[in-house]
Amino acid sequence: MLGDNSYVLRKLHSLTGIIPLGLFIMEHFFINSFLLQGEEEFEGAVNFLHRIPYLWVLELLIAAAFVFHAGYGLYIVFTGKSNVGRYGYVRNWLFLFQRITAVVILVFLIVHVYTLRFSDLEITYAALSQALSSGFMVAILTLGVLATVFHLANGISTFLISWGITIGLRAQRFFGYASLFVFFVLLLVGINIIRLFG
Ligand code: HEM
Repeated sequence: MLGDNSYVLRKLHSLTGIIPLGLFIMEHFFINSFLLQGEEEFEGAVNFLHRIPYLWVLELLIAAAFVFHAGYGLYIVFTGKSNVGRYGYVRNWLFLFQRITAVVILVFLIVHVYTLRFSDLEITYAALSQALSSGFMVAILTLGVLATVFHLANGISTFLISWGITIGLRAQRFFGYASLFVFFVLLLVGINIIRLFG
């Protein structure tokens, strides 16, 4: 339906998944991990971020990339052909989970960004810890982290394939396992942040 532009749009969709979105998720986990060094270090890191010159330009670029990636991503999810039977068993499941997590992330991030960026909630350790005192909030955040980390880790391995970086089956398998490692590392870092707020 999108005709001749679809190759470029696909490539742009793929690229925005890594730059800036993937990099942003890693930076986000990194900054939140200052909690490991205590509440004051965490608040210091957040204040440092807020003082970055031209922060609004960075935020606008990330938001634009997100709107494009999510918009075209939804188009892929709802118009894409099923790949059942085209790849191995595991690949089919990963393909399906990439799409399910896309929709979960979309809903999660809209609520997450609204509450933490646009509502009155103060970004202090005390306020966040209070917000995370309910089991329901912890469960929602854990689901959001799980979906995002899966989508990014699996996305890295499909990105390497779609850009022709991993060509042979052996390379693809190796980076498949590498992305599993990335998945577990990011998951542990993410869960640890939620735990530290508890
Ligand atoms: C911050 C959140 C997100 C990150 C870091 C991210 C990252 C990525 C990455 C790295 C890929 C792999 C690209 C490739 O295979 O070349 C990808 C694929 C995909 N993303 Fe996202 N994404 C995010 C949010 C979303 C959202 C909200 C949607 C849609 C609602 C979405 C839909 C998709 C779809 C459908 C694919 C698979 C594309 C394909 O198989 O051709 N993503 N994403």
